[in-house]
Amino acid sequence: MHGSTASRTPQNVEIVPRNRHFNIEDVLKTEWHSNDRFKTAFFDAMSILFPLGEQFFIDSVKAFRGKFDDPELERRIRGFMAQEAIHRREHQHYNEALCRARGVSIEKMERAVFVRQKFARRYLSPMQQLAGTVAFEHLTAILADALFRNPEALEGADPDMAEMWRWHALEETEHKAVAYDVYVAVGGQTWRRRVVMALVTLEFAQHVVRNMRLLLRDYEGSRFKLWRDGLKFLFGKRGAMRGVMRPYLDFYKRDFHPWDHDNRELVSSVMAEFGGATVNPI
Ligand SMILES: [Fe+2]
Ligand SMILES: [Fe+2]
Repeated sequence: MHGSTASRTPQNVEIVPRNRHFNIEDVLKTEWHSNDRFKTAFFDAMSILFPLGEQFFIDSVKAFRGKFDDPELERRIRGFMAQEAIHRREHQHYNEALCRARGVSIEKMERAVFVRQKFARRYLSPMQQLAGTVAFEHLTAILADALFRNPEALEGADPDMAEMWRWHALEETEHKAVAYDVYVAVGGQTWRRRVVMALVTLEFAQHVVRNMRLLLRDYEGSRFKLWRDGLKFLFGKRGAMRGVMRPYLDFYKRDFHPWDHDNRELVSSVMAEFGGATVNPI
């Protein structure tokens, strides 16, 4: 099909699958983030999306394996798939423990994503599905970047939970360009990824808010205050998600590449902390 991607991924970025196990069953019974319902629910709501989401990402990239000639990209795909498979496993445990602790049904929590994916797998072309993954991977990459850039994001969180989220964010950073490079290698068009990004952003926000509302359904205080303070935590002056708008909008540029946001320096100490592979890529 198409030749080498001439990816702008820096040569020294390795995609390292770390086979970590997190013992977080007990802490998930608590308000593990700063004893704050909103902060805890925000991260928990995202976790709910990952097992199904990451399977979809793996499958949509897998569909294009062998359709281009680029051994280096093939190697990075293997690393990406191994990382996402381990993330799925750990977030599945996370979600099962969470739902048990909160008395909510995991099927109910996952249902909306399940239905959307069923539709996507049946009616969207492999290229459309891949464009969706490219967009989602950019969202996870900029959220991961914010997690490292803005220490407030995990300040006051339980140390084991913080470690899990930082581990995941690190690996999202390492593989942030894989789906994008595959998309370019197989002739994915700019207009398509732009349109899909707009849709995916709404989709993502909607799923997070819905999951948060389910997790917060028994909250007895003022909901107005809960959400007002929570949104300040996320998007305020010293908010956990501050600074994400510009890298988000950069995605819509014609010549965008995920490594235009070169955050190797930012994550280098995290890389040192988490070290190399503890598992062979699957
Ligand atoms: Fe992941
Ligand atoms: Fe990812």
